[in-house]
Amino acid sequence: MSAPTAERSLVLVKPDGVARGLVGQVIARLEAKGLRLVAAELRTLTTEVAEEHYGEHRERPFFGSLVEFITGGPLLALVVEGPRAIEAFRALAGATDPVKAAPGTIRGDFALEVQANIVHGSDSPESAAREIALFFPAL
Ligand code: TYD
Ligand code: MG
Repeated sequence: MSAPTAERSLVLVKPDGVARGLVGQVIARLEAKGLRLVAAELRTLTTEVAEEHYGEHRERPFFGSLVEFITGGPLLALVVEGPRAIEAFRALAGATDPVKAAPGTIRGDFALEVQANIVHGSDSPESAAREIALFFPAL
């Protein structure tokens, strides 16, 4: 059996997660899973970067509110690495709607509202490449 190929994903602890002091618990869960931290930075997004990050949702009714929310305070941007890191972190995060997210997942344990759902994780290799280049162009 060959060694698993490492994959990278962009993870965000969104402003609600930072404000509520959940950074440590999110990092503890992804490290416990076996994902490795490659980059980390606390920053407040500009509207331009937020609109670029969520560009796929530009036509959705919640887009304006989402951009306002994600730029509303500091967030923690992370790049994590490991075998199937994208799928692995999405599983840790749970469903987009925290009420539907399974208990034991980050969203299932810590959130109640769709917008304020604590974390972001890239959803495909293409999204991960795009998002990592947007947040950490030097990587
Ligand atoms: P989406 O990419 O569908 O979810 P995920 O974060 O699980 O990949 O949506 C991006 C974010 O937009 C989502 O985390 C929360 C917010 N959002 C809303 O505020 N309302 C909605 O109806 C949806 C679908 C998402
Ligand atoms: Mg998404």
